[in-house]
Amino acid sequence: MTRHKRVGILTSGGDCGGLNAVTRAVVRRARDYGFDIYGIKDSTMGLLSRPIDAEVLDLKRVSGILRYGGTILGTINKNNPFAFPMADGRVLDRSEEVIEGYHQLGLDALIGIGGDGSLAILNKLAEQGNWQLVGVPKTIDNDVGTTEHSIGFHTALSIAVEALDRLTYTAISHSRVMVLEVMGRDAGHIAMSAGIAGGAHVILVPEIPYSIDNLCSKLLDRKARGNNFSIVVVAEAVKTETGEPLLYTNSLGQTLYGGIGQYIGNEISSRTGIETRVSTLGHLQRGGTPSALDRLLGSAFGVAALDLVAQDKFGRMVAWQNRRVVDVPIAEAIAQYRSVEIDGALVETALGLNTYIGELEK
Ligand code: F6P
Repeated sequence: MTRHKRVGILTSGGDCGGLNAVTRAVVRRARDYGFDIYGIKDSTMGLLSRPIDAEVLDLKRVSGILRYGGTILGTINKNNPFAFPMADGRVLDRSEEVIEGYHQLGLDALIGIGGDGSLAILNKLAEQGNWQLVGVPKTIDNDVGTTEHSIGFHTALSIAVEALDRLTYTAISHSRVMVLEVMGRDAGHIAMSAGIAGGAHVILVPEIPYSIDNLCSKLLDRKARGNNFSIVVVAEAVKTETGEPLLYTNSLGQTLYGGIGQYIGNEISSRTGIETRVSTLGHLQRGGTPSALDRLLGSAFGVAALDLVAQDKFGRMVAWQNRRVVDVPIAEAIAQYRSVEIDGALVETALGLNTYIGELEK
């Protein structure tokens, strides 16, 4: 009797909406090919564990998960196997152990769902360890190159827009400026899209420098024209006006973004005298019920990823381009970081709406 092809699936990096839709789609599509699907726990940690931490995923296990937030497989956004932080403080290259985990499990292929960082690590493991890898792009930051959408962005965007709608009522009721700090790591996609969709008057993104004087003039001008409130959206990686990143290191030694919303809020209130409050949306953008679009995208990517496995097309990432699912080399996708396009449609839209988005060269 011939053995069924064994396909592993793992989720890596920060959780986001739509991950379970991919897992479900892969398992459902596997019926058509007679493949066995192995769900690997906590990204590469499952392959590092002995015994290997994985479970066979059947239709029953994935039933209904389409509408769940997070990932049933678990995930991590630390513990890079090439520079693995040990409990005793040493940093070791444990890539060979992870590679061996794939072979011990008898995998014929692996579907890795991750952002640019995770896909880069998985691709390196695949090259070094002769893995057959297919990538699926996910990240609320939407910064993976060569795909117009990554899973998770739309859910995060919907939450940010809802937050702006809520803040707007408070801003109007109290005649205040309300500042919302959103995630996005080094890219300003969430801030730019949420700012436009949520009717913000100021949008700050890491890709565009800004002047606090001009930002404040915008707010004072609105006030002078009889508007009693303003809404400001700022991406977490925006730097201070003088170019310093606002980062902090927690007790575990992890360096994280934090504080730019408060910095901007303080500058606004001290320079304009307008009462200002700051909210930081944080991880609320990642969890919760996935949006319809992320479920759709996740389903489409899951089916297409398994089809690539069936066609023996490896080293490829599924991507959304021009209303179709296509596949591109993983190496190309991770080499092309996707920032907010200064000459793109959204920047043009924000400018057309007379939103202050910083100091663009004329
Ligand atoms: O990459 C996704 C993301 O949510 C970023 O937007 C954010 O900077 C980071 O992850 C937060 O990571 P953590 O979950 O480790 O706090």
